[in-house]
Amino acid sequence: MAEVKREKFLSRRHLIFAAIGSAIGLGNVWRFPYMTYAYGGAAFLIPYIIGLIVLGIPWMILEFGMGHKMLKAAPGVFEGIGKKWEWAGWFPSISAFCIDTYYAVIMAWALVYVGSSVTLAWGAGEAGAAGASPYFFNTVLQLSSGPGVLGSIRWPVVAALAITWLAIFFIIFKGAELIGKVSQVVMCIAWVLIIVLVIRGVTLAGAGGGLNWYLAPDLSVLKGVDVWFAAFSQIAFTLSLGMGGMFTYGRFIAKKSDISNTALVTSLADASFAFLAGFAVFSTVGYITQALGIGISDVAISGLGLAFVTYPVGISMMPAAGSLTGVLFFLMMWMIGLSSAYFLAYAGFIVPFMDKFGWSRTKTAAGGCTICFLIGLVYCTQGGLYWLDMVDRTVCFYTLLIGGAIASIIIGWVYGAAKLRAHINETSEFKVGPWFDWLIKIVVPVGLLFVVIYGGFRTDIATPYEGYGSWANAIWILMAVVLALSFALQGIKGASSK
Ligand code: PHE
Repeated sequence: MAEVKREKFLSRRHLIFAAIGSAIGLGNVWRFPYMTYAYGGAAFLIPYIIGLIVLGIPWMILEFGMGHKMLKAAPGVFEGIGKKWEWAGWFPSISAFCIDTYYAVIMAWALVYVGSSVTLAWGAGEAGAAGASPYFFNTVLQLSSGPGVLGSIRWPVVAALAITWLAIFFIIFKGAELIGKVSQVVMCIAWVLIIVLVIRGVTLAGAGGGLNWYLAPDLSVLKGVDVWFAAFSQIAFTLSLGMGGMFTYGRFIAKKSDISNTALVTSLADASFAFLAGFAVFSTVGYITQALGIGISDVAISGLGLAFVTYPVGISMMPAAGSLTGVLFFLMMWMIGLSSAYFLAYAGFIVPFMDKFGWSRTKTAAGGCTICFLIGLVYCTQGGLYWLDMVDRTVCFYTLLIGGAIASIIIGWVYGAAKLRAHINETSEFKVGPWFDWLIKIVVPVGLLFVVIYGGFRTDIATPYEGYGSWANAIWILMAVVLALSFALQGIKGASSK
């Protein structure tokens, strides 16, 4: 326990870089641009900004503020509120652990693609355009017929996964100080890379058409409910909240540093990166559709399909510097993934375990990284993608949102939003008013539960997720497991008091 307690506070600059690094991740590239396109183009920015103000920023202030006040990670924060609430801190910690097991696998694919881009392994020119999808599904993943068929292990992916976990271990095993320094470097490179990719994209023929899809405003969508669901769910995901990690980062904020300002800067930097990434994505999509004479509905513009199929199509068709663009793109994906992955590992579950059991940092980090790597092997099988998808739905959607709602209710009503506000205002230049209490007590939990019920239960109960039939029950089983483990960890006594 003493080891984390002695850990230095981060300089304001390093903390901001670490927080921005955790927020900026794969979702900024493959989710935000697509949502903007699908929900009214530039008009989407209105609910997005409103969502940031009423939901995202207050929620981040809450996590930073409570970590800073209690000098603890999530389980310790909730234990400090009352022993019976400790599970509410383990719930997000275990979710963070679950996410990291597969998030690193997606990074491993990106790393494989850094190599594949050098030789344009899926083919050049139009042959490459046709070859990109089979290359991903049949060559890299060798995807099986369904979640019930795991098949064999894909060793190239395992090798990339091992490199990824080694990188994570070497960044976290010395603690917050090194994390801050590495985050600064990683983020600076990521920003340079995204700017280079935007320039490469917008100078391609047909880019204008793509950007028109991305941003042409359609204000009529604002009347519907869907756009609010989309904006709120993206905000919850992109700010890396609900994973417990920001409580831990909050504890590394120096005593006299600014909490509300840090939350504001982090959220704005995250949104700017996502907005910029949209230019790289949609200019490339515009180029592909023009060059191949196809429509936007013929290409994947979000998720894995965008990163590992559509973008490679663009790369193989680029008139110049295709390979280089590929290397830079996948390197950027790996790096923005990395700063989210070590956040999830260190702040998400390693510090909570060090706190609870008094284990040393090196041992906990080594053990945590090894276990995550071993669990990750499941996703490296031929049927791994199906499992990745289901676990993603469980933890990156349900437990993230439900955990956030529980946290804001307990902190807002049991601990007291006003008490938290008083602490924040003591340390922050930008003061939050009494409106903050109502955002924490009502708006944040209601907003998050709206997303869970409207975009989750309503659709998943009617049609099993992704049509995996009964396999989709795995979602509910997994959630129950996460919850049960949270209670179990709360129950393990003794070691915590050492
Ligand atoms: N914020 C990350 C992204 O946008 C995803 C993430 C969510 C990472 C939750 C950690 C925790 O990709």
